[in-house]
Amino acid sequence: MTTDTVTIIDDSTGKKVQLPLLTPTSGPKTIDISALYKELGYFTYDPGFMSTASCSSKITFLDGNKGVLQYRGYPIEQLAAQSSYLEVCYLLMNDKLPSKTELAEFESIITNHTMLHEALKRFFSGFRRDAHPMAIMVGVVGALAAFYHDHMDIRNPEHRMITAQRLVAKMPTIAAWSYRYATGKPFIYPDNNLGYTENFLHMMFAMPSEDYKASPLLAKALDLILILHADHEQNASTSTVRLASSSDANPFAAVAAGIAALWGPAHGGANEAVIRMLMEINDSGKPLQTFVDRAKDKNDDFRLMGFGHRVYKNFDPRATLIRQICHQLLNDMESTGEQKKLLETAMALEKVALEDDYFVQRKLYPNVDFYSGIIFLAMGIPMNMFTVIFAMARTIGWITQWNEMVSEPGYKIGRPRQLYTGPIDLEYIPVDKR
Ligand code: CMC
Repeated sequence: MTTDTVTIIDDSTGKKVQLPLLTPTSGPKTIDISALYKELGYFTYDPGFMSTASCSSKITFLDGNKGVLQYRGYPIEQLAAQSSYLEVCYLLMNDKLPSKTELAEFESIITNHTMLHEALKRFFSGFRRDAHPMAIMVGVVGALAAFYHDHMDIRNPEHRMITAQRLVAKMPTIAAWSYRYATGKPFIYPDNNLGYTENFLHMMFAMPSEDYKASPLLAKALDLILILHADHEQNASTSTVRLASSSDANPFAAVAAGIAALWGPAHGGANEAVIRMLMEINDSGKPLQTFVDRAKDKNDDFRLMGFGHRVYKNFDPRATLIRQICHQLLNDMESTGEQKKLLETAMALEKVALEDDYFVQRKLYPNVDFYSGIIFLAMGIPMNMFTVIFAMARTIGWITQWNEMVSEPGYKIGRPRQLYTGPIDLEYIPVDKR
């Protein structure tokens, strides 16, 4: 990072302060304001982090105007076409592509860590039967800290690596079992003969009473979805993981916090919300335009789920890649009557949003969650598992970002400041005198 400066002049006092201007390898230059309070006595105000870089990072680069997304410098398009999810996990965590031997070794490590402690299995049965799998996942991932405290010295790189491997390996088991428990089906143990994605599908859909073989087409599409969701720099859930672990909290607790943040419909919960919205549209019997008009109406808080993005203002490169599979799957697969109707509504909505002035002017394109929801629906994945799969994929991103942060010497606990607008210096009146 080369350093230049930016001068800020306080108009009221004439005092000047020179702030370092940091130059990234790519992306906008960034003013280092950390000395501002000391120098001028002012805070900066930026709710929603519209102009604020919360950290420096070498992991993922994205350019929202050009629709660029790169993991460790590799364009997402190349990884999507040629790589596998586990290779991407290796790349993110180790900052290099693996050799053939390294990849085989890594796949073997992950395969051999997929089992959960038997006592953890009992933890699932503490939840209500109708619990949302995301709620179960938040609880079970947080509980991992009670099982793996043997390797939780966050200053020890080897411990951090083992924790990362355990999380990546166990997430599909936790995800599948959250669903199995909530549907009253028996837990299916991992099968070490299967690849990562096939194993997840096996644990989701197999029955002890009959053979199950995951469709290679589905497994491949799911692997691609996992690659596209693996990391996305400082989004809400990743920033949550970083903030939670900046107090040196254990990584399982921090990832559980990340899962909770992801669940919101403005973030990873959007894929489920997309399908619920399509159902609402179909069930209402009203024309599609009614909903488009509602989304445009400032007095109505209805939004078209799966449209818009804080960072991508031209197109979401993940959506471009996933859109192709979405359309291909819709052509190749047999859908039930209800599925077909939902998919038709989705495609009609995609057309409206791409042509309607309101959406075009505000650059509200279909995002990755619009298509992933539709693909999951076509794949027969239950709706309440959509965000769970996103969490499974994003675990490598969260844990890599955590590892980067805690391995930096002298990182600080995150502690934002505020612009206080409430009352001050009130006088307390005892309750019998009020
Ligand atoms: N439907 C209708 N209007 C919208 C939508 C939408 N989905 N999204 C944004 N707008 C309008 C918004 O009302 C505002 O209009 P105006 O300028 O007239 O006031 C303008 O577009 C800008 O919106 P914003 O809320 O300032 O944008 P943001 O960057 O704060 O929010 C967002 C980004 C993704 C939260 C938002 O677009 C949204 O709520 N989308 C629907 C939920 C969704 O699909 N989320 C998944 C995001 S992709 C997965 C991930 O990375 O997490």
